[in-house]
Amino acid sequence: MELKTDLYLGDCREELKKIPGSSVDLIVTSPPYADQRQSTYGGVKVDEYVEWFLPVSKELLRVLKPTGTFILNIKEKVVGGERSTYVMELILEMRKQGWLWTEEFIWHKKNCFPGKWSNRFRDAWERLLQFNKEKKFNMYQDAVKVPIGDWAKDRLKNLSKTDKIRDNAKNGSGFGKNVSNWVGKETVYPTNVIHLATECNNKNHSAAFPRELPEWFIKLFTRENDTVLDPFMGSGTTIEVANRMRRNSIGIEIVSGYYEEVKQQFSPTEYYLMEPIAEYETADHKRRCAVR
Ligand SMILES: C[S@@+](CC[C@H](N)C(=O)[O-])C[C@H]1O[C@@H](n2cnc3c(N)ncnc32)[C@H](O)[C@@H]1O
Repeated sequence: MELKTDLYLGDCREELKKIPGSSVDLIVTSPPYADQRQSTYGGVKVDEYVEWFLPVSKELLRVLKPTGTFILNIKEKVVGGERSTYVMELILEMRKQGWLWTEEFIWHKKNCFPGKWSNRFRDAWERLLQFNKEKKFNMYQDAVKVPIGDWAKDRLKNLSKTDKIRDNAKNGSGFGKNVSNWVGKETVYPTNVIHLATECNNKNHSAAFPRELPEWFIKLFTRENDTVLDPFMGSGTTIEVANRMRRNSIGIEIVSGYYEEVKQQFSPTEYYLMEPIAEYETADHKRRCAVR
């Protein structure tokens, strides 16, 4: 099957209107955070952020399939000694727009720079907010299973009586576990904390995703030939990874320099003749790149 990569140069608030409704399976994106990176690609003021973002999220709601998922990477900074509240305000407004706020993943930045502040510690995590249109959405949990870990060897060797039945938590939380269910298991489901370094893959962009970040969500929420969108594409990490994983992709970027660099990577001739470059490249696939 032919794989498509559609790249748009422009403001996503306008460019998104060109994308058909209910056509995208997964949106993974990191918009400019409020008041940050003004020197490189602008920056929206904290108190104008929600108003600025809502037309984008309205279009994203339109283009996403009912079974699709939207992952928004964002983190409020400290202003005048206090955390901004614009992300929380944005979540509330997006819910009014029709989005379900389904989950919040934490990206733990393993290699975050150390530092000293008088009233706080170094910030080593970012939000990955999950929004959906419907309560029932596509999710392929087995695709992100992780090794069970060394703890299992000792813990599962000699099981007690309680380990063999469902043991409800004593604190009345309603949680319970049957430890014997893990016997013989090599892999388990991960938590909602994703531990990744922040390296920028030597890209010419100050805020590029580590490739593993979009990769994890693409595995979890899509299958081959599905469509992945990044409306704030930057250096195109989401698009590049989606392509390698044999998903169709759509990228939008407002800065022509970044757009041109991504376009170079996806020149149509290169893609028709491309050699396998990653574990996902097991079969010959036709690829088409449209640039606008
Ligand atoms: C945080 S960066 C994204 C980085 C990207 N995840 C990567 O891996 O390279 C945000 C990007 O959004 C772009 N941008 C800002 N406003 C935009 C808009 N209105 N429409 C489209 N792109 C925009 C910026 O130029 C910047 O490249």
